[in-house]
Amino acid sequence: MSDTPAPAAITMDAIVALAKRRGFIFQSSEIYGGFNGFFDYGPLGAELKKNIRDCWWDDMVRRRDDVVGLESSIIMHPKVWEASGHVAGFTDPLVDCKVSKQRYRADQLFFAAVVVDGKTAGYVSALESEKTAAELQAAAELFKRKKALQGTLSPIVAKDMTEAQPDEIALIPSPATGEPGSLTPPRSFNMMFQTNVGAMTDASAVAYLRPETAQGMFVDFKNVVDTGRVKLPFGIAQIGKSFRNEITPRNFIFRSREFEQMEMEYFIHEDADWAKCHEEWIAWCEAWLKSIGLPASHLSRYTHPKEKLAFYSRGTVDIMFSYPFGVQELWGIAARGNYDLTQHATASGKPQEIFDEATKKKFVPHVIEPAVGVDRILLAVLCAGYAEEEVKDEKGAVEKRTVLRFSPRIAPVKVAILPLLKNKPELVAIAQKLHAKLKRKYAVFYDEAGAIGRRYRRQDEIGTPWCVTIDFDTIEKPGETFTLRERDSMSQRRITEAELFALLEEHVY
Ligand code: GAP
Repeated sequence: MSDTPAPAAITMDAIVALAKRRGFIFQSSEIYGGFNGFFDYGPLGAELKKNIRDCWWDDMVRRRDDVVGLESSIIMHPKVWEASGHVAGFTDPLVDCKVSKQRYRADQLFFAAVVVDGKTAGYVSALESEKTAAELQAAAELFKRKKALQGTLSPIVAKDMTEAQPDEIALIPSPATGEPGSLTPPRSFNMMFQTNVGAMTDASAVAYLRPETAQGMFVDFKNVVDTGRVKLPFGIAQIGKSFRNEITPRNFIFRSREFEQMEMEYFIHEDADWAKCHEEWIAWCEAWLKSIGLPASHLSRYTHPKEKLAFYSRGTVDIMFSYPFGVQELWGIAARGNYDLTQHATASGKPQEIFDEATKKKFVPHVIEPAVGVDRILLAVLCAGYAEEEVKDEKGAVEKRTVLRFSPRIAPVKVAILPLLKNKPELVAIAQKLHAKLKRKYAVFYDEAGAIGRRYRRQDEIGTPWCVTIDFDTIEKPGETFTLRERDSMSQRRITEAELFALLEEHVY
């Protein structure tokens, strides 16, 4: 992937269409009309996702001496979620429309008073988007025209529904019906999915699908310390599914109800310089995102304002990504103090401390937590890598090509092996031999169907970095070389088998 920003014309529609067309992502249960907030990863999507996970695991766990891995269960003792604060506080503010039965997240539903000559004449509403303010202004102007109001309209002041006063709520129109009177006041909605464990269905059997993987690391902290030969500072990392009953899942796989997280809890001494450690992890996460091909131009930082942090949090910085629908959170890096371990120590009665040889004192370690969603990274690499270009075919005619400029580290197919002609046994035999050798180590694809230019285009569209063509020079000239065609430059050069393996070794790690 180059450092140039994706052209502004890239739309989510184009990304979603390609994802479906080439078997990256499908709507879950599509034959039954789909299921909102759930997605399936097709053959190429499953490979891409696995590569993202593997790169993270290799870099975060295997290639570091201070981080170990964990795989904890998805359904944990319900007391875990009481102690962590999720039962009481893992909520989003919800507003219902009593007429349409639509539900909205209150902080994503905006309204504004229509003020004419200093007097409030009514209200308008709009859902959160890049254009919310403009939509509210346009709606206010329309309101004034429709009601034939004379006088000067004040510029609108957009607020979200969590800021609505009780007497305003009945006057704000529902986005579903356009009429006031049907919206309820915001109420807290717990986002954890509940289930029952065992044969009973009463309150004693209630359990939850985990809404984050992080609690596994806290609950197993002592087990890892007692068995893992770890010394502070050290981290415990986990990759796994999490579930949140999001009120409004949206933007394709960006916000879904079942998703995958890659989280790491980095435990540090209570007296350690947490701010320095926090900054080091933010920099590590940024560098890692670039190493899998995300351009620096699409990344930025958002520092949570101190007054909006949870009481136990010392600081949170989000790495933001410029998606086609706006700049949004990709990766949160939080300094959580010793809140979680202390909560579990109190609730379980089991101390969660470490002994400090230097001071001969026990203490509860503090933690820095980088937490990211695999699906959000996958969407980011799709959006940043997607391009539509005009190129010349072999005969010089201009044609359109769609290309996914994936980094070789994460590309679902690393190399396509293409015998120039399928009815030339000498070419096919060499191609099949090379294919068999390569596929022992790499995800490769053998394709002998169609004109070579069309085969290149098919690979461009799924992000394959290199095509290797076995052609007449391979059999006629000394040294058994192949044509190596690069996806991004479309340039071609000759390469031997040993050079091809060296190229892969260098770029696929
Ligand atoms: N343990 C901390 C934690 O879970 P979070 O900010 O709620 O923090 C971490 O989630 C990351 O998980 C987010 O930055 C995002 O990448 C991903 N994530 C959260 N909710 C998601 C959802 N509904 N769909 C997809 N990814 C989500």
